[in-house]
Amino acid sequence: MLPFQLTLTPESFRNHPGARSVLRRLSEIANIFSQTAEVQSLAAHNPLIYEFVDLRDGLSESMLSFGLTILQPGAVGGEYFMTKGHFHAAQQDGDEVYLGVSGQGRLLLQSRQGEHREMDLVPGAILYTPLAWAHRTVNVGRVPLVFFSIWPSATAYDYEEITRRGGFPQRVMDQNGQPVLVPNPAFQI
Ligand SMILES: [Fe+2]
Repeated sequence: MLPFQLTLTPESFRNHPGARSVLRRLSEIANIFSQTAEVQSLAAHNPLIYEFVDLRDGLSESMLSFGLTILQPGAVGGEYFMTKGHFHAAQQDGDEVYLGVSGQGRLLLQSRQGEHREMDLVPGAILYTPLAWAHRTVNVGRVPLVFFSIWPSATAYDYEEITRRGGFPQRVMDQNGQPVLVPNPAFQI
């Protein structure tokens, strides 16, 4: 692999050799939202929730993986658009760093013991996610939330544990245009 340079724009990442865009539409992640009736009412439209531009294939010889996420603005039944969220698999765990590029977001974190933290993911913010903390991002603004993330390439992802727990301890709801954290009654360890 040779040295290379990118800029923090979706176009730069999409055009990099080996880049792959992973598109998540509502139908693929419908079970992460709490308002099932609202999910069904949007099903025909099936909006794009987020795009992850994954450079892993272009970094096959590297010990690092990274990518750019573009999370669309919007809400389902008052719950802001968000990513699926995952733990890193226990046997292939690793830290992850986020850098906010544009838009207004929240990073939701939960530990294996069920503790939770929430942080602002805004332009210029650098957020450190230690291993053993699951992570999910939420767009609480009116424009796309764009952020960069980087982690060890040996890391594997565990989405099933998030499903088994009923999501994250907190949900981020739109209340009169303002993001409000509310406890998630479905959450269990
Ligand atoms: Fe991750």
